[in-house]
Amino acid sequence: MTIQYWLRWLSLHGVPRAVLRYHSSRGDTFARMLSPKGIVDPHPYIERIRAQGKLVKTPLPWVTCDYAVAKAILRDNRFGVRSSARIEIPKVLQRFANRVPPPANPADPPAMLRMNPPEHATMRRPVVSAFTPRAIKKLRDRVESVTEELLAALPSSGTVDLVETFASRVPIAIIFEMLGMPREDEAKFLAWGEDMTPMLDVGVSWSTYDRAIKAATELNDYLDVHIERLRRDPGEDVLSTMITGGELDQYALKANTSIIIGAGFETTANLIAHAVSLLLGHPDQWDRLRAEPELWPNAVEEVLRYEPPVFITARSALTDVELEGVPLPQGSMVMLSLGGANRDPAVFTDPQRFDIARPNAGEHLAFSNGVHACFGANLARMESTHALRALFERFPDMRAAAPPRLRQQLTFRGNAKVPVELGRSVRSTPSPAG
Ligand code: HEM
Repeated sequence: MTIQYWLRWLSLHGVPRAVLRYHSSRGDTFARMLSPKGIVDPHPYIERIRAQGKLVKTPLPWVTCDYAVAKAILRDNRFGVRSSARIEIPKVLQRFANRVPPPANPADPPAMLRMNPPEHATMRRPVVSAFTPRAIKKLRDRVESVTEELLAALPSSGTVDLVETFASRVPIAIIFEMLGMPREDEAKFLAWGEDMTPMLDVGVSWSTYDRAIKAATELNDYLDVHIERLRRDPGEDVLSTMITGGELDQYALKANTSIIIGAGFETTANLIAHAVSLLLGHPDQWDRLRAEPELWPNAVEEVLRYEPPVFITARSALTDVELEGVPLPQGSMVMLSLGGANRDPAVFTDPQRFDIARPNAGEHLAFSNGVHACFGANLARMESTHALRALFERFPDMRAAAPPRLRQQLTFRGNAKVPVELGRSVRSTPSPAG
């Protein structure tokens, strides 16, 4: 690993990490929310921030947990994205660090998540155009058959980790379908995904960043071969469409494929895993779904509201802006707590309550808003609604075998393990909802 990567880490994560630790030790609420304890349960910190105001200054960026402010910023073209909560290192070191660009990855430009208009559209257009109703319909058939195959393979007794055996496996099979990848490579992608998603977090350790860069390098090598294969023999998959469209160079193809992988399966896996934990922890809500299965799509919206798989995001002022009476000079960064916005009492009645019949559950910001709004939202909804209903109806006696184990990440907040005992299996899977 080169010194250049270390300098990049220092600017993107190392210095912010030290600043956060210092302020966390002095009791700062925002810094504590990003600490290991805050990741386990961020909501007490979120409520403290909410009590301080709609837009709160912290030692690093500004932060908001307010629904209206978060949504307004996401939709405001005076705000844009930039590469992480960078703290500038001296120019000479920056120039030196930039001599070795990082392997294409989801956290750096030209990944669409890190691009502003108008270039953002160049990255997003070729991908979105592949989300045709026909493609989604084809994926729906695939979701049904993959779910059935995975449920049938679950062991009939003992403790089962539902993340490893089910929650991550449904979405990865679908991403593979989308990207024209051979299924035997799924395990490699699961491992790369696990290592790379912390790159989107704030203040990760050098060893975590180093592991992410190594995973991104391996993924780049894999994609070079795979893209070459598709150039020679394009299929009907998303990646072939991106390649034949000719708008993206090789680096941009790889960066945007890595964001589709990261955004496309880690998030949906976290949604399914959160839903399992929440329903097992709220038996009254599961009972209600048994009695009223037509509530499944709304239950998925409520899981997205209550435990959004993308918990925070950020925007920077591209120009001097005044918001809520607060002047934000150009370059000011605002952290948007999507998890906080989704529990804003101004929008959601009794917001700390998990209620699968909540009438306005679908107003959540879990899929963001504005130019970067998630275009995989309907696919994620379809996948998770079908997979969850099939799982819960197949195993009516399922129960938690141990508490779920959370990943130490706040951006992609989710469970690493959800151990359950499945109990008896009811063979016929009823027709899916959603
Ligand atoms: C439960 C599942 C999902 C959740 C919670 C989710 C959430 C999000 C959020 C919050 C953003 C925007 C972040 C921001 O504004 O800074 C986003 C963007 C994105 N999502 Fe999703 N997503 C999910 C599933 C998917 C799927 C299935 C795909 C693709 C197959 C996908 C692909 C993307 C891409 C490529 C972007 C970047 C869009 C852009 O920058 O223009 N996501 N997602």
